[in-house]
Amino acid sequence: MLDGTHARIAIIMAVITAICPAAEQPDKSVSTIPQPVSMEISDGYFQIGPDTRIIAENEAAAEAAKLIDSLASAMGFKLSLANTSRRRRGSISLRLDEDLSKLGDEGYRLRVSPRRVSIRAKEPAGLFYGIQTLRQLLPEQVFSKRKVEGAEWKVPCVRITDYPRFGWRGLLVDPARHFIPKQDLMRFIDIMALHKFNSLQIHLTDDQGWRIEIRKYPELTRTGAWMDYTTMLSGQEAEGFGDKRPGGFYSQDDIREIVRYAAERYINIVPEIEMPAHTGAAIISYPEIGLYPEKLSALPAEKRWFANERVLAPRPKTVEFMQNVLTEVMELFPSDYIHIGGDEANIEHWKKSEEMQALKRELGLKDEAELHSWFIRQVDSFLTSHGRRLVGWDEILQGGLAPGATVMSWRGQQGGITAANAGHDVVMAPTTHTYFDYYQGPSEGEPRAIGGNLPLEKVYRFEPIPKDITAEKTKHVLGVQGQLWGEYISTAEHRYYMAYPRAAALAEVGWSPRAAKNYENFLARLGCHLKRFDAAGINYRKLD
Ligand code: ACM
Repeated sequence: MLDGTHARIAIIMAVITAICPAAEQPDKSVSTIPQPVSMEISDGYFQIGPDTRIIAENEAAAEAAKLIDSLASAMGFKLSLANTSRRRRGSISLRLDEDLSKLGDEGYRLRVSPRRVSIRAKEPAGLFYGIQTLRQLLPEQVFSKRKVEGAEWKVPCVRITDYPRFGWRGLLVDPARHFIPKQDLMRFIDIMALHKFNSLQIHLTDDQGWRIEIRKYPELTRTGAWMDYTTMLSGQEAEGFGDKRPGGFYSQDDIREIVRYAAERYINIVPEIEMPAHTGAAIISYPEIGLYPEKLSALPAEKRWFANERVLAPRPKTVEFMQNVLTEVMELFPSDYIHIGGDEANIEHWKKSEEMQALKRELGLKDEAELHSWFIRQVDSFLTSHGRRLVGWDEILQGGLAPGATVMSWRGQQGGITAANAGHDVVMAPTTHTYFDYYQGPSEGEPRAIGGNLPLEKVYRFEPIPKDITAEKTKHVLGVQGQLWGEYISTAEHRYYMAYPRAAALAEVGWSPRAAKNYENFLARLGCHLKRFDAAGINYRKLD
């Protein structure tokens, strides 16, 4: 007889092997991430082969084409698409269905029987998410970029009804600290989509670099994109780095391409243009928006890094400069939300400036916090008048929150609680549970990180709706976001290592019903999920 410990290990092993169907050893059990709202598994399979037809009409046909593409490399054949509404045996049908409006704009229903697969949704986004689930029902080798020989592409019979808990399921990447090439960003978006994330915030500007072409202000990228100062390197050390230079920027055509690519995967790109702090690269490029333009202009650009307070002078001309930048940003990004940073402004610099003290008096403001708030309000009313919404880090609460602002709560959840109770929308992004630039285990065994400690389990157990938000205000919690700040992340491989599997845990926080969450069950499914990463060639941190 097995003793207690061995019996438990045997059971866990049985669960893990039972839920990882491999192409050469297909199994009817299922391990999807994020966990669907409801799922029934029954006997039997649907088998995909070269003769399997995809049936879809109109908008559903665009989603069908994505399904066909996502299967072709590993299967070694391209399924054909029949543009019809007729049901047939041996087919996978995708259809929009108004009757499913109760599942919302991202919900779907997936049915697999031995005769057919059917995905139904009110909107194309729901079909897309149904497809992501279907891909995870197949053996993990379906994620291979190369043809898999001898595989049986069996899908277990299931009935799934699914929709997300939150409407904002995001990640943040930071090409300002180390530039991220466009192709890397697109691959990152693919992996996000597999986890049903729908928002990617791109931190486009900071002290270390300005990464977006602005036609009206060409110096922002001519100078500001190539400074080669990072948290890891000073400018001198970066000399001779060649292709590995931390600099670079996205042209406006690049941005349009990235936005379109993400939109095809139902990911909204939220651009972040930092102000009034984290603006060193902008000030070096245009000293007139900084506190001491004459002092800075007298220096060559490469000497300005250390002589720069990295906070804007919020005079009306600076407000106008930033509004002009945002005009081009709004042309490029269809996002309702435009992120303007707002964090970590060292307003001591404004205290020391005679000009800023005079400005404060002239505007009738009590202190520097009110001057910060005044500046954010100028930007808020500008964005609002153009039909957009301002989102900023929780420091924008200080000195009074601008009327239309959405708050991203990063210094814990208190900022989010205060803002939601005051009737503002919030996104929960606290350092405690969502900062993926933190260590994920004892630091000795990990690549250098910014600090902190955020293990996988802590991410998984994150609850985005704190009890201190009153019941009728919980609707203001739009969702969650994980942060991949780039000070110490300079390669795609390292970025995936920091993101996954923590982002898989956050995906489930954002999507799955609270009552369905179970860490042990997640870990068992994750064991299979990571094999998908192996098949796809995506790096990740191994489980402890
Ligand atoms: C932040 O991490 N400064 C938003």
